[in-house]
Amino acid sequence: MPLVTSTEMFKKAYEGGYAIGAFNVNNMEIIQGIVEAATEERAPLILQVSSGARKYANTTYLRKMVEAAVETSGLPICMHLDHGDTFDLCKDCIDNGFTSVMIDASAHPFQENISITRQVVEYAHDHGVVVEAELGKLAGVEDDVKVDAKDASYTDPDQVQEFVEKTGVDSLAIAIGTSHGAFKFKGQPRLRFDILQEVENRLPGFPIVLHGASSVPQDLVKVINQYGGAMLGAQGVPEEMLREAAKMAVCKINIDSDLRLAVTATIREHFALNPSHFDPRQYLGPAREAVKKIVKHKLVNVLGCNGKA
Ligand code: G3H
Ligand code: 13P
Ligand code: ZN
Repeated sequence: MPLVTSTEMFKKAYEGGYAIGAFNVNNMEIIQGIVEAATEERAPLILQVSSGARKYANTTYLRKMVEAAVETSGLPICMHLDHGDTFDLCKDCIDNGFTSVMIDASAHPFQENISITRQVVEYAHDHGVVVEAELGKLAGVEDDVKVDAKDASYTDPDQVQEFVEKTGVDSLAIAIGTSHGAFKFKGQPRLRFDILQEVENRLPGFPIVLHGASSVPQDLVKVINQYGGAMLGAQGVPEEMLREAAKMAVCKINIDSDLRLAVTATIREHFALNPSHFDPRQYLGPAREAVKKIVKHKLVNVLGCNGKA
């Protein structure tokens, strides 16, 4: 089976009250950990590549590794550009085999966001590629761009119908209180399910995307801190909230930070316990296992997409 778009995945996820995991990939071990978990759980997958990942690992290497994942797993896998910020970047990914792109023009005023998104949609759809866009602004760090909490803004449900109609976009990322990175909430976590419900009412059957959805497991934070890390106060989205969102219109849940935490906790602990190791396989192997373990947990206990491939 070749790489697929997310169209069929989202249709089934919406009807079935579950969500597809969209995991960020940056190197071979991360890809393998995710894909081994999804293969054992028979889960459809979105592997997403940020522009930072493209710079770090080279798009061709990443695409070839994702193709290897398709070949070895036999799973439906969609290769997605995460947070594309220009038409040219989206076009480059479309021309180079991605089956889905995100145009994130959410930093621009509403009408400008519409026209940039529309331009990407026209090119993508002409090439059989689907498009995710964003309305509202998440707080947190993406690549080198940091959005302070004070500059973040919830999605306005009054804008979503016009946005989707005028752009022709295939899915929509909304801001309901999640943020990127490992420090999402100071105090009680709170998500605006009322906004999600309003969006769902305005766009029945339309797939919604949740970014910034890592739950920041405290056991991993503890291990990192125990071995010299400084992650006091790291806090993510409670998994019950993600399960709730997956039962609603949310069909794609983005997870990156949790994989980073799993890799880092494993490697920090490994070196503390095995200071003489210097073969990268000795620590990257366990890091790959840790990615597999956390992804399995997400697929089965959070997303509910196990057995859906
Ligand atoms: O939303 C951002 C993702 O976590 C990707 O992060 O831009 O550092 O690769 P990155
Ligand atoms: P986290 O930082 O919560 O993992 O979010 C990742 C994300 O939204 C990627 O687009
Ligand atoms: Zn994101």
